[in-house]
Amino acid sequence: MATDVRQAVPFSPEKWRRDFPILDQQIHRQRPLVFLDNAASTQRPNQVIDSMSAAYRQTYANVHRGNHWLSEQSTFQFEAARAAVARFVGTDNPREIVFTSGTTAGINLVARAWGEVQLRPGDEILLTELEHHSNIVPWQQMAARTGATVRFVPVDQQGLIHPEVVAAQLNERTRVFAFAAVSNVLGTVNPVSDFCRLARARNVLTVVDAAQHAPHEPLNVRQWDADLVAFSGHKLLGPTGIGVLYGRFELLDSWPPFLGGGSMIDRVTWDGFTPGEIPARFEAGTPPIVEAIGLHAAIDYLDVVGLEAIQQHERQLVEHAIFRLEQEVDGFRLLGPRHDRAGIASFVIDRVHPQDLAIKLDLQGIATRAGHHCAMPLHEKLGLSASSRVSFYLYNTLGEVDYFVDAVGAAVAKLR
Ligand SMILES: Cc1ncc(COP(=O)(O)O)c(C=O)c1O
Repeated sequence: MATDVRQAVPFSPEKWRRDFPILDQQIHRQRPLVFLDNAASTQRPNQVIDSMSAAYRQTYANVHRGNHWLSEQSTFQFEAARAAVARFVGTDNPREIVFTSGTTAGINLVARAWGEVQLRPGDEILLTELEHHSNIVPWQQMAARTGATVRFVPVDQQGLIHPEVVAAQLNERTRVFAFAAVSNVLGTVNPVSDFCRLARARNVLTVVDAAQHAPHEPLNVRQWDADLVAFSGHKLLGPTGIGVLYGRFELLDSWPPFLGGGSMIDRVTWDGFTPGEIPARFEAGTPPIVEAIGLHAAIDYLDVVGLEAIQQHERQLVEHAIFRLEQEVDGFRLLGPRHDRAGIASFVIDRVHPQDLAIKLDLQGIATRAGHHCAMPLHEKLGLSASSRVSFYLYNTLGEVDYFVDAVGAAVAKLR
């Protein structure tokens, strides 16, 4: 049974992890399951699972269209989720919240709804070298459709992007600056407010990929002064199939719809249609209703645990992991900044292929990631085809980090 998180006291990963049934398992002949692949997707607490199960059992119906009790219940819960997300990102206007299927869908929505109308040949789309493919490919597609060009702000040797370098890349042709708040490979935490300020001074649209920020640090779109911010539910304890696009009201309100269908219209005739109000204009078709309810439960859970505490905890885990790996594993090289980083650590080890290491670790019950982590251009810049990655969350313990580092040491000894 789920514990009531509202009665929670100081931060303790051991306490929180009791809410996550999936973590309480032994695999591969009695090895404890150690889940260190949180940047790819996180696990769900009972509170989220129960909220979704209750919705399917008691209140489910389609939203915004039924004249019956179940539809009213469902609509109420769906819109309550939107209001909770609005609070979570720091806006008092729920109409600035569009439910999408994830970060990727949010960025594609912006690229299409805004870019198709606004971009002209010669315009520049500015990205950074540390982006996930989700924040590269939609822009490359738009560039191909409109004749705009894509440019990348360079990362330095430490994996940092400096505001002066951004300032030097912004020019009179730049129309949009889209960048990750936190790198899913390097763990770099970008100075989002500085980037947004520089872009605003030049009247450049800002799109923040907050996929790796929203789950781990407090988020306030007003403090950032960002135009658009996208993130995914499944990376913050919520279900798959739901994501959030925050957009400044005046902007979203001025854009045409991207997808057409039910819900996004005001009126349809034989000759055409008039689009509906936002956010419905961008939510064509039946939305992810129960997923929104699960996302609401995830946000409530994070609220109780406290994002500041989560951030601190993860930084402690990542520092400890890096410190021990540097001390104990010959040929270990960290990618990205040594300090002030998010709870993500990608690395390479001389004469050990990341894939081989991941397989050895898996045999010890440890879930990590090996590959390019959907950032092939960044890996090319680093002169690598692949790296290993561990990424932490609120339920990971120092004991798990020690178990992981010991397992790396043992695996490396066998693989060389
Ligand atoms: C920085 C970043 N952006 C975007 C994405 C894409 O998220 P999704 O697959 O949920 O759309 C990810 C997922 O790993 C990510 O780490």
